Amino acid sequence: MQTGSKEEFQQGSEPESGQPTEQKADPTVELSQAESQTKSMPCITFVKEDKVAFAAEGANLRFKALENGIDLYTFMGKMMTCGGYGQCGTCVVEIVEGMENLSPRTEVEDRKLRKKPDNYRLACQALVQGDASVVTKPGK
Ligand code: FES
Repeated sequence: MQTGSKEEFQQGSEPESGQPTEQKADPTVELSQAESQTKSMPCITFVKEDKVAFAAEGANLRFKALENGIDLYTFMGKMMTCGGYGQCGTCVVEIVEGMENLSPRTEVEDRKLRKKPDNYRLACQALVQGDASVVTKPGK
């Protein structure tokens, strides 16, 4: 007896081999889902590097920069970095747009950046909550 006619196979039943039919995802649906996800994600523009990175809300700015190959540190900064603990001040960045979209300055930043302009942040202390434009190694 023959089972699994061509008509049954096209309707999504299992073929004669007993293997489930492969369901291919519609690539246009996947793309539009990805587009809508990135549209709702904060966008960080690294001005000097001419690079844009998307981040989950609340992401650490230093981590996102490093993850995207952005060099935050000067030569001396690389040698003296505390690794993101707010102790060295070497991860300083200038926020040229979207300062309101970052977490408020921490006490550590107030101490480390007291002689710097208000739009300077320590990348390791700043959490991304919306779009922002960042200049790395400001003044260098
Ligand atoms: S990495 Fe040391 S203060 Fe940010």
